[in-house]
Amino acid sequence: MTKVTMTVNGKSVSGEVEGRTLLVDFLRDAQRLTGTHVGCDTSQCGACTVHVDGLQVKSCTMFALEADGATVTTIEGIGNADGTMSALQASFQEHHGLQCGFCTPGMIMAASSLLKVNPKPTEAEIRHHLEGNICRCTGYHNIVKAIMAASGQDVSAIAAE
Ligand code: FES
Ligand code: FES
Repeated sequence: MTKVTMTVNGKSVSGEVEGRTLLVDFLRDAQRLTGTHVGCDTSQCGACTVHVDGLQVKSCTMFALEADGATVTTIEGIGNADGTMSALQASFQEHHGLQCGFCTPGMIMAASSLLKVNPKPTEAEIRHHLEGNICRCTGYHNIVKAIMAASGQDVSAIAAE
């Protein structure tokens, strides 16, 4: 076992991990941050997406040891400081960008990563960015709409689901 220390959602945390412990398991099991989901464990679905040092990462593809010393943000850390939802989260709610919600943490982490580098993405850019995130429920239209609306763009041209 090896000790790892990282900053998760602004708080310094540490724990003992095996070399094979995945970052997603460290977050969910050791830190009880269960908003990060495991949909496949094989890098397909994107439900486990978090930010590591500002970059979008599928946390099932990274060992906890590799995140030693890093700054990690999970879905629990994406809201406003006062505990209310971020504009992006609120937009998912308003535009029905989720149904069962299983993919939603990963979708929001991926979308927030996109909006950081591209504050006004086109529909095509959003769809391209979300290629690594799978949703079984929504058909994606409302997810795209929610992201475009969160970036202050007109969403009337996007087909309703
Ligand atoms: Fe990580 Fe599916 S659980 S990509
Ligand atoms: Fe159910 Fe996306 S809302 S998988």
